[in-house]
Amino acid sequence: MRITLSGLHKMMRDGEKITMLTAYDASFAALLDAAGLDTLLIGDSLGNVLQGHESTLPVSLRDMVYHTQCVARGAKRAFIIGDMPFGTFQVSPQEAFRNAAEIMAAGAQMVKIEGGRPMLETISFLTERGIPVCGHLGLTPQSVHQLGGYRVQGKAEDDAQRMLDDARILEEAGAGMIVLEAIPAALASQITAAAKVPTIGIGAGVDCHGQVLVLHDMLDVYPGKKAKFVKNYMKASAGSIQDAVALYVKEVRDGRFPGREHSF
Ligand code: KIV
Repeated sequence: MRITLSGLHKMMRDGEKITMLTAYDASFAALLDAAGLDTLLIGDSLGNVLQGHESTLPVSLRDMVYHTQCVARGAKRAFIIGDMPFGTFQVSPQEAFRNAAEIMAAGAQMVKIEGGRPMLETISFLTERGIPVCGHLGLTPQSVHQLGGYRVQGKAEDDAQRMLDDARILEEAGAGMIVLEAIPAALASQITAAAKVPTIGIGAGVDCHGQVLVLHDMLDVYPGKKAKFVKNYMKASAGSIQDAVALYVKEVRDGRFPGREHSF
C-alpha cells in the first residue's frame, strides 16, 4: 500500500526518521521502493545529473511530467514528490495550480516549491484546492544567481531568524513538509523543534525529521563537484547499488547519517 502524507506525519510524531532519495526513472524507482525508501523526490536536480546543465534553471515542466510518470510506474509504495521547475509557480497562484496539476496527474502525491514568505499565497491556493505542497528553504538552487553561488544559508543571525519565520509561514500556509538545504545544523534543529510538519534535511544536520540526498551523488556517479553534505555510499557499502541504498536507509533510520563531517 502506498505511504501517505498522514503516514509520514505519524512517523514524525512517533520519532521515526523519514528516508528520501531523488529518483528520475522507473528502474531506480523500483529499486528504491524495494529498499524501503519512504519518499522519492523527482528533483529538478535532474537538470544537473541527467541533462548535464550547470544549474536546475533549464528544467521544464514537460521534463518534470515525463520523469514523474517514469518514477510513478516504478514505485508502488513510496510517497512521490515532484519538483515544480523554475518559472512554473512564481507568477501567479492560478498558473502554479495549473502546472502543479500536471505534475500530480503524472503520478506525484505532492509538489515541492522553493522559497519562503513570497510563496505564501501560492501554497495556500494549492493546498486549499487539494494539492499537497512541500516547501524548500535554505539553499534554494533555483535562486543560485540571486544567492551568488551554492552557499550555506542562514549563518547570519538575521538570516537565521528570517528562515525560522519562513518555516512557520510555510506551515501556516498549509505546507505539509519542508526541505531544509545547506543550513547550520543548530538552525535546522531549532526549525525542526518548532515544526508541526516533517522537516527533511540535506546538509542540515541530523536533527531533521528525515533526510534526502541526490541519488547520483550518493552513488558517486555524478562527475561534478560534491557538496560537503554528500556521503559516498558506494564506497561506504559492499559496493552494489542495492547495498549502498540499504546502508543509506539504515543510517538515516538509526540517526547515523548525516555525521558531523556532513554538517555545517
Ligand atoms: O532537486 C532536488 O533534487 C532537490 C533536493 C536536493 C532536495 O530539491
